[in-house]
Amino acid sequence: MSKVTVVGAGNVGATVANVLAHKDIVNEVVLLDLKGNMAKGKALDTWQQAPIDYYSTKLKGTASYAATRNSDVVVITAGIPRKPGMSRDDLIATNAKIVVSVTRSILQYSKNPIIIVVSNPLDVMTFAAYKASKLNSKRVMGMAGILDTARYRAFLATELKVSPKDIQAVLMGGHGDSMVPLPRYTTVAGIPVTEMIKKDKLDAIVQRTQKGGGELVKLMGTSAWYAPGAAAAQMVESIIRDENRIFPCAVRLTGQYGIKNMFLGAPVKLGKNGITEILELKLNSDEKKLLRKSAKHVSNVINTFNKMKLI
Ligand code: LAC
Repeated sequence: MSKVTVVGAGNVGATVANVLAHKDIVNEVVLLDLKGNMAKGKALDTWQQAPIDYYSTKLKGTASYAATRNSDVVVITAGIPRKPGMSRDDLIATNAKIVVSVTRSILQYSKNPIIIVVSNPLDVMTFAAYKASKLNSKRVMGMAGILDTARYRAFLATELKVSPKDIQAVLMGGHGDSMVPLPRYTTVAGIPVTEMIKKDKLDAIVQRTQKGGGELVKLMGTSAWYAPGAAAAQMVESIIRDENRIFPCAVRLTGQYGIKNMFLGAPVKLGKNGITEILELKLNSDEKKLLRKSAKHVSNVINTFNKMKLI
């Protein structure tokens, strides 16, 4: 028996619930939103898709935290998305309060869940959920790296005219414009990507990836949901099925990469107890420099969060 709660029935939350239902790997998905009817409607709509797409996952929409009782995994997507011209960091004043209060409410009904944060600014909202939940840091993580690597892999697939399936990559750092895609750890069907693409083209793809979220905000007037929702559902899958898949996630670093006491994107194994292991790549000095710069950026946003004195 497994139960997953998704908090926030906006575009991202509804997509997480829908993609997760399709995977047919959990018994129940609870979609919770203060706008209870929206949550009920989207849950019912996804349930009505079950006879067409063949899954048995039950869905429940609700505004009541009591319905989330004994969740194994909780995905927090609550908060406002970006509008054109905003950075993810501009969302902190609103979203920090929401994430802290959602986390506390969740913990009233589930004693030891695994929490996946999707709300922005991602690395700091994951830190906020960790602090508010008092859970072991192996059980609190943020979804960003799968999305950011997916964008990078998709751009490479277009450029190289290959299937996105054949592109593997790692990316580190914060979920912001200072994120660190790692071409040295990028392969195309096992072939180092640097053997298949010219440096200027690769550099342009790295830059486009760093601003990948903003590109979509400009196009749609709000932030993306299909790839972000699918990415969070993929993390849930690796946990529920105890797959130990390796994904870049926002995790609490405790000295790895010379960084401590903050949440930042790094490759990890994900299994039934959450983060099984944080992998330490042998970064070269340029890569380390970029990672430090990204960490500095995130730590400035943590300072803003700490000044809010929500915890
Ligand atoms: C993005 C949002 C989800 O990158 O942060 O699209």
